[in-house]
Amino acid sequence: MDQHKRLLLILITILFNTSTLRGDELVQLVHDYYKEKCPLAEDIVRHNVEVALYKDPGLAASLLRLHFHDCFVMGCDASVLLDSVEGMQSEKEAGPNLNSLRGFEVIDKIKYLLEEECPVTVSCADILAMAARDAVELRGGPGWDVWLGRKDSLMSSFSGANQFIPAPNSSLEVLIDNFKQHGLEIEDMVALSGSHTIGRARCLSFRQRIYEPKQEYHYGYDRYKRYTTFRRILQSICPVSGRDNKFAPLDFETPKRFDNHYFINILEGKGLLGSDNVLTSQDFDGTITKQVWAYASNQKVFFASFAKSMIKMGNINVLTGNEGEIRRNCRFVNA
Ligand code: HEM
Ligand SMILES: *[C@@H]1O[C@H](CO)[C@@H](O)[C@H](O)[C@H]1NC(C)=O
Repeated sequence: MDQHKRLLLILITILFNTSTLRGDELVQLVHDYYKEKCPLAEDIVRHNVEVALYKDPGLAASLLRLHFHDCFVMGCDASVLLDSVEGMQSEKEAGPNLNSLRGFEVIDKIKYLLEEECPVTVSCADILAMAARDAVELRGGPGWDVWLGRKDSLMSSFSGANQFIPAPNSSLEVLIDNFKQHGLEIEDMVALSGSHTIGRARCLSFRQRIYEPKQEYHYGYDRYKRYTTFRRILQSICPVSGRDNKFAPLDFETPKRFDNHYFINILEGKGLLGSDNVLTSQDFDGTITKQVWAYASNQKVFFASFAKSMIKMGNINVLTGNEGEIRRNCRFVNA
């Protein structure tokens, strides 16, 4: 092969590798990314998540969800953290996020401290990934090594947030499609839905589910009876209209612990959101239900899958080259 051909081949290989990056190929992010650049980065994040959760344990769920909502809109690039400016409406104002996402101040504080320690080095997107991991672990969930080296986006996508964050009244088919678009398999979706073992939802998010006609044939008798009681409790929290912002825990049994109780709940028809319930009620061939049973009966199995799928989610369309930057303030692009 002559020089030119070899050079061309190398070029093609490079182009190919960077343009086909998917959630399941961990080619660009690495562990210990900040080991030399900012050795205290992971400790600073961990410590401050711990402090925040000490004051408000509910923030664990909020931090976990922030990473999810970041990754599902243009990839894990901290686009969700940008505030609105003239000419660009923030993702924060989109339907699924408005009056719902929390935890921004925790990220701001961590970013402030990291800028003091090592200026313009640790990306906001990486802070979100680390904080989500720490939040899960601090509530009793699994830990994992976070892959790092993401850059931050230069824009936020209001329309993307409305389009790509799944709605709680989606059918199973729509949910599967949505995750597929982000390179995530059904198995990832089921494992990641286990996030709803902590946190809460507003009446607005589960009203439709608790007032829709009951579909007994989707349930089986026992499950149907259990759901009837559960539904009555939920209806007392969330009336047919009004009280939109009243909360109910996503996992009624152990709302503050990151455990496998979510999967026991959805086997009993007691998932809070429609999207939780459809995992088992619309799973007509039984594949998902089998996975749910495995998680419900063995927390270790759930934890292992969850960690694996979180890493995969954290790799969706990451920016690692010059397309992104390290923001100084997570709310604004650098001047
Ligand atoms: C399968 C599709 C999903 C749908 C339709 C969905 C929908 C929702 C909705 C509607 C809420 C309540 C928001 C509110 O009423 O304010 C919520 C909360 C939450 N979601 Fe999901 N979600 C999904 C998947 C996920 C995934 C993949 C994760 C994380 C990896 C996640 C993490 C959370 C957490 C932790 C909360 C509680 C937040 C808090 O208490 O502040 N969700 N989700
Ligand atoms: C889901 O909820 C939205 C907003 O409340 C509503 O516009 C839409 O029609 C609902 N979709 C389904 C499939 O029920």
